[in-house]
Amino acid sequence: MITDKKTPYRLVSDEQLSQLRAREDKLFVERTRKSKETFDNAQEMLLNGVPMPWMGDWGTSYPVFISTAYKNRLTDIDDNVYIDFCLGDTGAMFGHSPEATANIVSKQVRQGITTMMPSTDSLEIGKELGKRFGLPLWQVAMTATEANRYVIRICRTLTGRPKVLSINESYHGSLDETLPHIGPKGKLELRSEYDMNPGVPKEALSRVVEFNDIEALERELAHKDCACVLAEPIMTNCGMVLPDAGYHEKLRELCTKYGTYLIIDETHTFSNGYGGYTKAYGLKPDFITLGKSIAGGIPVAVYGFTKEIGASINETFGRKGVSDPMGISGTLSANAFAIAAMRETLQKVATPEAFEKMFAGQERLSDGLDAILSKYNIPWSLTRSGARCELQFMPTLPKNGTNAKDHFDWELMYYTHIYLSNRGIVITPFHNMMLISPVTSDEDIDCLIKGWDDCLAELAELGRK
Ligand SMILES: Cc1ncc(COP(=O)(O)O)c(C=O)c1O
Repeated sequence: MITDKKTPYRLVSDEQLSQLRAREDKLFVERTRKSKETFDNAQEMLLNGVPMPWMGDWGTSYPVFISTAYKNRLTDIDDNVYIDFCLGDTGAMFGHSPEATANIVSKQVRQGITTMMPSTDSLEIGKELGKRFGLPLWQVAMTATEANRYVIRICRTLTGRPKVLSINESYHGSLDETLPHIGPKGKLELRSEYDMNPGVPKEALSRVVEFNDIEALERELAHKDCACVLAEPIMTNCGMVLPDAGYHEKLRELCTKYGTYLIIDETHTFSNGYGGYTKAYGLKPDFITLGKSIAGGIPVAVYGFTKEIGASINETFGRKGVSDPMGISGTLSANAFAIAAMRETLQKVATPEAFEKMFAGQERLSDGLDAILSKYNIPWSLTRSGARCELQFMPTLPKNGTNAKDHFDWELMYYTHIYLSNRGIVITPFHNMMLISPVTSDEDIDCLIKGWDDCLAELAELGRK
């Protein structure tokens, strides 16, 4: 193996990798001509040719434009069909347009979309979420970002404290408080070399510690200026990082000790089960936030909390006939259409049986990928959790965000993604996450295993030359 590269785990030389990439780029361009033409035309009316920035970040010089997404298949406007293991970065975790969700949505859309008044479906979702996640009181927002923002506001008001503690290299949406990361000199900064958020007083709003670092957590919480800790139960946005044994118990204990609320963001880790990671591992957060997949991809998010917090909210903010006492807004939030989609998805799509299928699929995929790594003696590691797994270009599982990010090799990563895409397979951009839906078949999983096998066989062969 060649080891004097940007990463010792690249397997091939830079030159070999760029030759492979040129071959795959050529194939990509040949089969996506209409996407290219559409992208060129889009420059006239969309910034950088896409309706939102991330849509241009697939590692190719232009994105493919999608015509239909159904179950776990995407079809682009050139009629290429892909097996989808990205699943809208969890938004379509139960497959695209699940039958039950699509049916209720088409019915509800003719019976009222938004009214400013509650529908009885909201009682059912509150009850269902309480049963699953173990918190009794729920509120609805439009996106997970928004749910996190509202919970942060509540925590600040209840504690009178300004700061939010988040985990280095985590992501919870575009929140000023949780975008800062620990820079090379230990100072808080944004993750890129330029500041995307100038003027935001990072040190005044945020504290950041590494995942699994209990000592740092206690040191920072001891300042007693953090209203809340906002954390995913496993990190899913910088590769995948699992908690050390006892980490969550300690996190809970320290939050209680220092009077800081604990918010667990289950937006991605809902893939760990019917009641998310919280239910599966018996966590005891004060708040849970969750979005993306709970309404089958229709934009809805929720946040849940304890009865004590509910009582404190009413005492502190007061229900005095003042509209919107917490400053929590969103005219379209909790609209009848979205709530109906969530109820039907929770009751008929995100069932315990669906999760069983998803877990079995993940194990099949992970076993297959581990076997390939062994077969070619490739020093990479695979993290598995619930319905998702993540291939990392490092020999051991990452311990925290910095450790995971240190081993990111963007050129290698995007080469493997375009290789798979040219063979009809899509995985998540920005890292190597693969998610299994209940409609993903064993044959689909075997196709992905074969895709990686062919890709890695070639890399391993070239690396030996
Ligand atoms: C863990 C987590 N929380 C919250 C969000 C924000 O979700 P949304 O962009 O749907 O608001 C994301 C987005 O990727 C996420 O990964």
